[in-house]
Amino acid sequence: MTTKEKKLKIDISGVDPICNKSKGDDFYDVVNRQLSRRSFLKGGLGVAVSSFMLSPLMAGCTSPKGSASSSAGLGFQAIAGNRTDVVDVPVGYRAQPFLPWGTPLVPGAGEFKTDASNSALDQARQVGSHHDGMHFFPIDVKEGGASSKEGLLVMNHEYVDPQILHTSFSPNAPRPQHEVLKEMMAHGVSVAHIIRKPDGEWQLVEGSSYNRRITASTPMQMSGPVAGHDKLITRFSPDGTRTRGTINNCSHGHTPWGTYLTCEENWAGCFMNDDKTHPREHERYGVNRGNSRYYWETATPGLDETARFNASSTGAAAADDYRNEPNHFGWIVEIDPFNAKSTPVKRSMLGRFAHEGIVFAPAVEGEPLVAYSGDDSRFEYIYKFVSAKPYYKATASGDLLNEGTLYVAHFNDDGTGRWLPLDIENSEFQAKASEAGVEFHSQADVLLNTRLAADVMGATKMDRPEWGAVHPTTKEVYFSLTNNTRRTEVQTDAVNPRAENAYGHIVRWSEDHQQSAESFHWDIFLMGGEAGTRTPNAEGDDLTLTADNQFACPDGLWFDHRGTLWIQTDMSGELLSQGGFGNNGMYAANPESGELKRFLVGPVDCEITGVVTTPDGKTMFVNVQHPGDRLAPGKFSSSWPAGNGARPRSATVIITREDGGVVGA
Ligand code: FEO
Ligand code: CA
Ligand code: CA
Repeated sequence: MTTKEKKLKIDISGVDPICNKSKGDDFYDVVNRQLSRRSFLKGGLGVAVSSFMLSPLMAGCTSPKGSASSSAGLGFQAIAGNRTDVVDVPVGYRAQPFLPWGTPLVPGAGEFKTDASNSALDQARQVGSHHDGMHFFPIDVKEGGASSKEGLLVMNHEYVDPQILHTSFSPNAPRPQHEVLKEMMAHGVSVAHIIRKPDGEWQLVEGSSYNRRITASTPMQMSGPVAGHDKLITRFSPDGTRTRGTINNCSHGHTPWGTYLTCEENWAGCFMNDDKTHPREHERYGVNRGNSRYYWETATPGLDETARFNASSTGAAAADDYRNEPNHFGWIVEIDPFNAKSTPVKRSMLGRFAHEGIVFAPAVEGEPLVAYSGDDSRFEYIYKFVSAKPYYKATASGDLLNEGTLYVAHFNDDGTGRWLPLDIENSEFQAKASEAGVEFHSQADVLLNTRLAADVMGATKMDRPEWGAVHPTTKEVYFSLTNNTRRTEVQTDAVNPRAENAYGHIVRWSEDHQQSAESFHWDIFLMGGEAGTRTPNAEGDDLTLTADNQFACPDGLWFDHRGTLWIQTDMSGELLSQGGFGNNGMYAANPESGELKRFLVGPVDCEITGVVTTPDGKTMFVNVQHPGDRLAPGKFSSSWPAGNGARPRSATVIITREDGGVVGA
């Protein structure tokens, strides 16, 4: 490749450009915005909000559905916000770094070199960088999953900071091949077999046949309606069914049959396309012109493996080049963590967008499987998948994810909502597409262009949907809306009520009658902000944040088995470096009692993302991502976890109680 040498401007913000240019003033928006203005002037969410939507953070209120409480109190002392370069946890708790970036994982991996001089091949065998979504699979998960002493810790590696990943990163293009390959190998997933020793310490089972790295190069299979589609044909995949690698693995999910799902979020930025006109399956997702985020396409000497990030039409036909390579990304990938030789499968029926994560409602024997996934970009949407076939524990497998209906959410301002089907057979979908003058040729075409299909249906444009969590007993669904400073006053609605929303909020809904329903009732669970910020509710009362629980930019969300909602934050920019919140952290909320407490504060410039416990709740795993990524010349802003000026490393943190009790109780 004869790319002229040029200075790189690498975007490490991890946030997509605004890609949703759809008009959005559909029937629902117009009618309901008028309704909303009236109800907000009265100071509440609106008179039509049904009685079960009372804010749960009003102290002493009952469960929204009146179901039996599974929650218990938060028996720890909240910690203060701070800017120290450590992981801070409450009195009586211990936090121990575990499996940092570069830990040797599979045979042949070299020891981590503190000057980051490990090769791409080492990186392909070591724990990846930028730890994110994570799940603990008890070693006996297929027999019910009771072990809290041994299991597979499976985690995502979202992206890379080249300045941290390489000994001396020189921001020039073309990029040296060895750097590009190391960056690709640092993305993906780690499967780590871990065991708790009799003294209580956790360790990696070295040499275990379960240990595995999945990277940007791992061979994979496409499945569902899009497999074999013409728009997937590339030089590597002449029939559009093979694919390779996964990137920008943000949050995750896990299925009721014991597999892991990794979700591809800000993948579009890893591609460039210099064709005069971009096809809609590139345009609506923000594929770049000129260069990709890391200039991988300029790798020298070039390989087929790296050339594919140039999605321009350079050959005579699709089978001669990589014009369709971006269409292999934006999916959810299923991985069997218990078979290191298994081929990961991209599940196209779950839609194509900037998937944050996926969360399943508790599976019910004989009923359809239901899962939720957010598209984390400004003004994008929340989706729901309902399987076509009912779930039966004895036979459930990934096939359940290949057939079903993908819906997108419309939140009415009166506290009701609708799931709008993105289904080419559905007459409402056909009518809306025809009205909008948009043609879809097949269900595969709908899924390849999921965002466009959702535009056509008039979905509600949200403030960056991040993680979702489903309450283990009430089955209410909670979703983080992390922030959206681009929302103007005129673009506000009841579910995204704040213009220039820098602090974010958490929305919550209950499905009407059954989890697979096409309608729901929602309310705002919690508004982020500084002490004094209030969350309005239907009664006109408020929860007011204090110094002990003020927070901004909710991102990771997870319910433990007690019904405690764990909330993780991802502030960035000036809000993180200078705002009144200190470093990013993690909070615990009891939705029934209204308690909310700061539980953890991370090191400098990290985000806190990824949380799970062992089945007994006594070991908690939390991920610390990108500490120290605010770079001063010659110096990182953090040296966590080693300290003393060492190169910072993303890592898991193991949290336990000194008295051996349940974390958070
Ligand atoms: Fe990767 Fe939306 O956080
Ligand atoms: Ca996130
Ligand atoms: Ca985030």
